[in-house]
Amino acid sequence: MAQKFYVTTPIYYVNDVPHIGHAYTTLACDVISRYKRSRGFDVYFLTGTDEHGQKVEAAANANGETPLELADRVVKRYQALWDKLNISHNDFIRTTQERHKRAVTEQFLKLQAKGDIYLGEYEDWYCTPCETFWTETQLLDSTCPDCGRPTTKLKEESYFFRMSQYQDQLLQHIEENPDFIQPKSRRNEILSFIKEGLRDLSISRTSFSWGIPAPGNEKHVIYVWFDALTNYISALGYPDDKDGLYEKFWPVNAHVIGKDILRFHAVYWPTFLMAAGLPLPKKVFAHGWWTVEGQKMSKSLRNVVEPNMLIDKYGVDAIRYFLLREVPFGLDGDFSHSSLISRINSDLANDLGNLLSRSTAMLGKYFAGIVPAAGQADEIDLAFIELFELAPAKIDKLYDNLSFNKVLQTIWELISAGNKYIDQTAPWTLAKDPQQQDRLGRVLYNLLEGQRLIALQIAPFMPQTAEQILGHLGVDPQSNLIDNDSWGALSAGSKIEKASPLFPRIEAE
Ligand code: MSP
Repeated sequence: MAQKFYVTTPIYYVNDVPHIGHAYTTLACDVISRYKRSRGFDVYFLTGTDEHGQKVEAAANANGETPLELADRVVKRYQALWDKLNISHNDFIRTTQERHKRAVTEQFLKLQAKGDIYLGEYEDWYCTPCETFWTETQLLDSTCPDCGRPTTKLKEESYFFRMSQYQDQLLQHIEENPDFIQPKSRRNEILSFIKEGLRDLSISRTSFSWGIPAPGNEKHVIYVWFDALTNYISALGYPDDKDGLYEKFWPVNAHVIGKDILRFHAVYWPTFLMAAGLPLPKKVFAHGWWTVEGQKMSKSLRNVVEPNMLIDKYGVDAIRYFLLREVPFGLDGDFSHSSLISRINSDLANDLGNLLSRSTAMLGKYFAGIVPAAGQADEIDLAFIELFELAPAKIDKLYDNLSFNKVLQTIWELISAGNKYIDQTAPWTLAKDPQQQDRLGRVLYNLLEGQRLIALQIAPFMPQTAEQILGHLGVDPQSNLIDNDSWGALSAGSKIEKASPLFPRIEAE
C-alpha cells in the first residue's frame, strides 16, 4: 500500500485579502505535496479559511456587510489565487461549513464531559488583532507583547480549558520528539514558554456573537482558535469519519505555519488533542516572515505585495521559484523587485533556459533533431552521470526537513554541471571531425537525459516549466519520479524540436 502524507496550511483569516505571505505557506505545502505524489505517496493537502471571531465581525461591520457576506467575497479571492498559483490542494475548508461546526461542537462536548472544560470568569487583557488574552504582567507598556498594539481589559464569564493539566505531558512529548517543532530555535522558544507555566485557557466569549455557539449555553461563542485549529481534523471528517479519511491520514505529517502562530499550534493544539485522546501532529514547522524592500508589509505603508500582479508580470513559475529559492525556509526574508529580477535572469533565463536551448539547438544542427544512442560512456561522462544518480537521495532528505532552498540549490548544481559539461566536451569541435560522430552523439544524449531528470526534479516547484521541458524532450509530461528517476530512460530515435526560450530575460526598469 502506498505511504500516506498529510500536510496543511494555516486557514487564512477573511478580514484581509491574500498577499505574498499567505501565498508563501500555501506554495510550500504545494511543493511538498507535488513532490510526495511524484514519489508515489498518497497525499492529502488541506488549506482553507478561518471565518469566525471578533476580527472578522469587526471588518464586516466596518464594510456594512454581514460576516458571512464578507467571508463569501474574500474566500473567492483566496480560491482564485490558489488556482492561478497552480495549487494542488485536495480540500478547502471553511470554518462556516456545517462539517466543521459539527466537529468543533463535538470536540467541545467531549472535553466538557471529561471535565477538561469548565465555566469560570476571567479578568484579562485582550488583543483583538492577535485574538489573544494576556495577563497584566505579560503586557509591555500596556500593549500586546506580540504585536505592540493596544489591548482592552475584559471581564467576562467564560469557559476554560484545563491546559495547565497538560503541561508536563506536553513538555515530555516535545523533549522526546526532537523533530516535533521545527526549526530548532523555535522549539527552544516554545520550551521556555511552557516552562514558565501553562494557565488554563479561556475558550469562549460573550461580548460578540460571530462564532460557533457553546453547546447548551448560547450566549457564549467558542474561542476562534479552539474553532480554527479543529479544521485539521474536521476536514478529514472527524468525528464520524464517514469516508475514512481521518483514520487514513491522522496524525498529520506536517502543519506548515508562520512563526507568529507557532504557540497556537505547538502548545494549544497539542493539549486539546491530548485532552481528546487523539494522536499529536508529527511535525509543526514555523517558517519566517517576509518584509518588503526592507520594511514590514502593512496596509498603512501601502507596500503589501499582491501576488496576482506579480504572476501577471513575471509568470507563475518564476514566482513559485523565487519565493522558495531566495530564503531558507524557517528564516525571515526580504522581497525586492531587484532580487526577483536577478533570480529570473541568472537562474532561470541563463542557467536553466540556456542549457535547454543550447542542447536542443545543437541536436537540431548536428543530428537533425533525432536523439542519438547513448553509447559507451567515458570518464567525463561517468562523473557527469554520477551526479544525477546521487542527487535524488540527497534531495529526498532535504525535503524531509522542508529545506526547499537547498533542494533547489542541489537541482541547480545539476544544471550548472550540464552547462559545464557542454564547455568541457565542446560539441562544436567534435562536430568538425567525422571520426568523433559517436562521441558527439553520446555527449548530446547525456545532455538531454540530464535535462529530463532535471525537469522531473523541478516539477514540484515549477510544474508548467517542467511540462514544457519534458514536452521539448519528447517525454510524457505526466511522467513522475517514482518510475522514471534513474539514468538512461530517454529513448534514442525520438525527434526533438529546438526549444524556444523558457524565460526571456527581464530588463530592470
Ligand atoms: N487564521 C489564523 C490561522 C489559523 S490556523 C488554524 C491566521 N491567519 S492569517 O491569515 O493571519 O495568517 C495566515 C498565515 O500567513 C500565518 O502562517 C502567517 O504567518 C502568514 N503570514 C502573514 N504575513 C506574513 C508575512 N509577511 N510573511 C510570511 N508569512 C506571513 O493567523
